[in-house]
Amino acid sequence: MINKFSEYFSLVIGAVNCYFCNSFSRGITMYRTHNCGELRISNVGEEVTLSGWVQKVRNKGGMIWVDLRDRYGITQLALEEGVSSFESMETAKKLGREYVISVKGQVIERFSKSNKIQTGDIEIKVSELIILNEALTPPFTIEDETDGGEELRMKYRYLDIRRNPVRANLELRNKVSFETRQYLESQDFLEVETPVLIKSTPEGARDFIVPSRMNPGEFYALPQSPQTFKQLLMVAGMDRYYQIVKCFRDEDLRADRQPEFTQIDCEMSFVSQEDIIQVFEGLTKHLFKSVLNVELPTFPRMSYNDAIRLYGSDKPDLRFDMQFIELNDVAQNQGFKVFDSAELIVGINVKECATYSRKQLDKVTDFVKRPQIGANGLIYVKYNEDGTFKSSVDKFFLPDVLKTWAEKAQAKPGDLLLILAGEAVKTRAQMNELRLHMGNELNLRDANIFKPLWVTDFPLLEWDEETERYHAMHHPFTSPKEEDIEKMDSNPGEVRANAYDLCMNGVELGGGSIRIFNKQLQKRMFDLLGFTEEEAKDQFGFLMNAFEYGAPPHGGLAFGFDRLCAMLGGQDSIRDFIAFPKNNSGRDVMINSPAVIDNKQLDELNISLNL
Ligand code: AMO
Repeated sequence: MINKFSEYFSLVIGAVNCYFCNSFSRGITMYRTHNCGELRISNVGEEVTLSGWVQKVRNKGGMIWVDLRDRYGITQLALEEGVSSFESMETAKKLGREYVISVKGQVIERFSKSNKIQTGDIEIKVSELIILNEALTPPFTIEDETDGGEELRMKYRYLDIRRNPVRANLELRNKVSFETRQYLESQDFLEVETPVLIKSTPEGARDFIVPSRMNPGEFYALPQSPQTFKQLLMVAGMDRYYQIVKCFRDEDLRADRQPEFTQIDCEMSFVSQEDIIQVFEGLTKHLFKSVLNVELPTFPRMSYNDAIRLYGSDKPDLRFDMQFIELNDVAQNQGFKVFDSAELIVGINVKECATYSRKQLDKVTDFVKRPQIGANGLIYVKYNEDGTFKSSVDKFFLPDVLKTWAEKAQAKPGDLLLILAGEAVKTRAQMNELRLHMGNELNLRDANIFKPLWVTDFPLLEWDEETERYHAMHHPFTSPKEEDIEKMDSNPGEVRANAYDLCMNGVELGGGSIRIFNKQLQKRMFDLLGFTEEEAKDQFGFLMNAFEYGAPPHGGLAFGFDRLCAMLGGQDSIRDFIAFPKNNSGRDVMINSPAVIDNKQLDELNISLNL
């Protein structure tokens, strides 16, 4: 043992010696004494060594300036004939963008200071410069505003990450995970890792599947979330669990969706919905305070039904008003067919926009008529500054009637009402899109304002037209509200769940529920969802069995970690908060995956392709 250790030790010493020999022979003893972001006026006079990437070279003949960059910042280097060594001057003339270099020199005060960079008061009077590695010319500029398109940046993501905005996003992500751990550890949460090769989890999206070589014809699934495992950990007595964990969902991608994403996943025992809300409101406040120095007030709450009725969305953006106003009672049965045949007539009051021109109104109408929105048309009522009304339905409604609409909408002279009518669910969804669109148009969605909201009392089930059966709105382990259990047989669609989402600025940041921990109730739930006893046993037998051994009352929540980071970073897309994200077709264009595998591998897995 001793022999082995000394052998290893001499090997390491040998390697270190060799590394220093190499550096000594080049005249530099260490790669760096400081990083490129830390030198200040107080360092003037110090002899320093810096290493990094060449951002920019300005060659003015006898003087050469180089901007040297690393993760921490940029430092200006100055080389001068007669001051810097002859070799260094010659080397500097050969430098290209992104070359990796090391320099030795003295910190001096800059003649013309820059307040654009933190080291702007100083520069390095370089005595020696060596090239550690040459670089090809990058395919796009490594600057805050790059000329590289999305696809190119993703292909060379390691170059993209060298840019300040992307690097800053990853630093923010690191800070958020650090602060999350600090907070949850202080609340007695224990991080426990759960497996990645599992069996299908019931979160509602498609699974990513992994074939098992050792079990021909059988497949693992990658977890859509660690849902069942965290519940098992509660049965196991872990009491407070968390995990910052990768989840995988094969679903259509959008700005706030990736096929592999990260959750802050949590579960707690012996808790009510209120306990969970308190802990995670606390976590959210802690993150906003520690990362952005923003104090969030107590989060308001709204029932799912109210959210849908007032905003047409279960994640309303509360940064601006424009609550929905239902106009059926004041607009129907007056001879206007579109309204008379509509299940719902709903409007929003767009303040101070009665001055909208014909052209502007046509543009808004075009927006709602886009196939993605699908409205047949848009009705407007201008409540003019002089108290008169001008609407697109003047033929059908007298000003007195329009006035009653305006009153309902609490509109003032100068305001504009926009109205949609049709089938209730669709019309609410369309009006939600219109409301968000107007919020954007009027710059009411400021990324520096944060409006959190707990949406509670979600329905337990949702009806799926395609399969003609109920699906769990959250997942099959979510408990119904005690007072609604009796409706499970008679009126399942009306049963509310102990389920809650945390949304902010129109984004669903997280969601969770109190779980069913009673075996009989779980069985009833599976019945409602149309599982036969066999199917339930096959899919969730392990959980049902575990529940026979003393399951505590429990519940939890999961935050979308990437979404939380994007929110804290003031952006809509989660992609730039993920080091190596996938594109909209689920491809990693850098490593070119997914990719075909060779026939030998397919044979080993007993898979034959039928393409
Ligand atoms: P849910 O399915 O609501 O709950 O997911 C929790 C949160 O994860 C985020 N999220 C995503 N983020 C990026 N890309 C995706 N494809 C994606 N899908 C979801 C959202 C969402 O609010 N097991 C339950 C939680 C629980 O009941 O405790 C669950 O996964 O921000």
